[in-house]
Amino acid sequence: MRAGSSVVVFGAGAVGLAAVMAAAAAGAGEIVAVELHAGRRELAAELGATRVLDGRDPDVAAQVVAWTGGGADVAFDTTGVSEVVVTALAALRPKGRCGLVAAGELVLPRRTLTAGKSLTFVLEGGAVPRRFIPRMIRLWQAGRFPFDRLVRTYPLAAIADAERDAAAGTTVKPVLVPA
Ligand SMILES: NC(=O)c1ccc[n+]([C@@H]2O[C@H](COP(=O)([O-])OP(=O)(O)OC[C@H]3O[C@@H](n4cnc5c(N)ncnc54)[C@H](O)[C@@H]3O)[C@@H](O)[C@H]2O)c1
Repeated sequence: MRAGSSVVVFGAGAVGLAAVMAAAAAGAGEIVAVELHAGRRELAAELGATRVLDGRDPDVAAQVVAWTGGGADVAFDTTGVSEVVVTALAALRPKGRCGLVAAGELVLPRRTLTAGKSLTFVLEGGAVPRRFIPRMIRLWQAGRFPFDRLVRTYPLAAIADAERDAAAGTTVKPVLVPA
C-alpha cells in the first residue's frame, strides 16, 4: 500500500494488530480495525487504528465505505471467517485489493468480486526475511512497530493459563518460556 491509502483490517489478534502497526508505519490515511473483543479494539486504537468497529455490527462495510469516501484501498482479513471476507470485499473501493492469511473454507457470491477488486492469499507477509526482519527491527527501535506490546510471556508450566487467556482474548500473543 502507498502512503495515504485507506486500510481496513478484520481481526485484531497478533496478525491483525501487526497489520495495523504496519499500516501506521507505512503512512496509511484511514486505518479501520474490526474486532469482536472490546479490549483488542482498544489496543488497535492505541497502535494506530483511526477507527474501530465491533465485528457484530451489521453495517461494517457501509461504515467503512462512508469513512473512506467510497471504499478502502486495501482490506486484510485475519479472521478466516468466510462471511467476513465477503464484508471485506464489500468495504473495498473499485479496484481495491483484499489480502487473506487464514486457511479454511471460503464461499464467495460472484457479486463480491466485481469492479476490478482482487483477492490474494498472503504468505508470511510476502516478505524477503533477510531484508524485512532488519527493517522491522529498525521500526521497532524507532518506536514505530511496538510488537512487544502484543506479547505476554508464561512459564512453560503455565501453558494452560496461556491457552485460556488466548482463547478469552485477553492475551494476544502468548509466548511460553521453558524454565
Ligand atoms: N498466511 C500467513 O503467513 C500466516 C501467518 C501467521 C498466521 N496466519 C493465520 O492468520 C490467522 C490469524 O492469526 P492470529 O494469530 O492473528 O489469530 P488470533 O486468533 O489472535 O486473531 C484473530 C482475531 O479475529 C477476531 N475475529 C474472529 N471473528 C471475527 C469477526 N467475525 N469479526 C471481527 N473479528 C473477528 C478474533 O476475535 C481474534 O481477535 C490464523 O488463521 C493464522 O493461522 C497466517
